[in-house]
Amino acid sequence: MTSLKLLVKNARQAVLVCNSKELFLRGEAMKRVLVLEQDGANGVSVVVGRDGCISAVGHTASIEKQFHDATFDKVIDAQGMCVMPGLIDGHTHPVWAGDRVHEFAMKLAGASYMEVHKAGGGIYFTVEHTQKASEEELYQLFKSRLERMMHAGTTTVECKSGYGLDLETEIKMLRVLTRASKELPFIEISSTYCGAHAIPKGKSSEEATDDVIKNQLPRIQQLVKNGELQVDNIDVFCEKGVYDVDQSRRILQAGKDIGLAINFHAEELNLLNGAEMGAELEARAMSHLEEISDAGIEAMAKANSVAVILPTTAYILRLKSPPVRKMIDAGVPVALGTDFNPNAFCMSMSLIMHLACVNMRMSMEEALVASTINAAASIGKAATHGSLEVGKVADLLIINAPRWEHLVYQMGGHDHLIKYVIKKGDIVHSSNC
Ligand code: NIG
Ligand code: FE
Repeated sequence: MTSLKLLVKNARQAVLVCNSKELFLRGEAMKRVLVLEQDGANGVSVVVGRDGCISAVGHTASIEKQFHDATFDKVIDAQGMCVMPGLIDGHTHPVWAGDRVHEFAMKLAGASYMEVHKAGGGIYFTVEHTQKASEEELYQLFKSRLERMMHAGTTTVECKSGYGLDLETEIKMLRVLTRASKELPFIEISSTYCGAHAIPKGKSSEEATDDVIKNQLPRIQQLVKNGELQVDNIDVFCEKGVYDVDQSRRILQAGKDIGLAINFHAEELNLLNGAEMGAELEARAMSHLEEISDAGIEAMAKANSVAVILPTTAYILRLKSPPVRKMIDAGVPVALGTDFNPNAFCMSMSLIMHLACVNMRMSMEEALVASTINAAASIGKAATHGSLEVGKVADLLIINAPRWEHLVYQMGGHDHLIKYVIKKGDIVHSSNC
């Protein structure tokens, strides 16, 4: 008799997203979300094996036949509910101390992001508090944020350092990320070194670039080699008054040279042609892109670079929206992220999907693709995450609603919709909804 981990049976819908081993979806393909619907009384079932991966997805009657002599550690009757992939948050800055609620008030009164930044607030305020905080303090704050993200349906998240700016604090942040990856089984982390997030006080941008390339990256490489740190990606804030395109290029190339994937902030407040530079370096992903040009869009599409769109930023800072429709039409794979940080305090990917639909004119299907398979692509995990396919990691949400679209439609309603969050086949959160 086979002994398996989990059976989810009788669901109203199983949202596969895609099922042909696609590594991302673009253009017209973003508009089609593959859904297996209940057929009369015959619902849909998902089987999870001992390894935490999906063994089968299909209609309940055929799954019952196929697994008639199997036993399961756990069976969930999902009658009337929907099963869908866990959400993937493509961009966050979640390790920090000190909040910036006071700056929210300043911005509401009319101050721009760069005005706050230049006055020593913004990233600098957070750097000061993060430098002072102990590693344990940062870890506890981070852990509770990850729990909130997971309760909101996120099962994999990209997380950046970048509130250290000096080597010691950057390593402290990366240690916090590494520890969470090892100790917290309810969420998976793709960890990003973002030492070039701002110019440290007292340094020129050229000196800061040199410090990152000659001092910080080699030390981080050493710590990765001896197993003390896990780092997957390299990021830089490529922006007027921060790191220019040439400095960003050198930093990203140096990261790539030590095996990190390029995933960086581009064209947020000013058009610098950073997207073209990123495409030349074959960046896996670029974020923000509010100001991207048509040529930048073209370059990203050719390079298969994923555009990670962050609807909170444009919303909070009242910026113009990035040209998402143009990107999709041009064939850029589009993903979504919360951009959770002390400026944009949002941990809910379902709210992000809602904002993306209303403010960026994405369809609900496109928003879901962007929060699953394409977000997985932005962190190099699309072969194993982001869709319900046999062999993929069983990261699932069970939604207590007759159609998955409720998760997008019910603005901020995830508390009342997400019945179970399942990570690698284990139930990591359940609610009474
Ligand atoms: O993605 N643009 C740069 N970084 C963050 C903001 C970080 C902060 O304000 O603390 C972002 O929006
Ligand atoms: Fe960011």
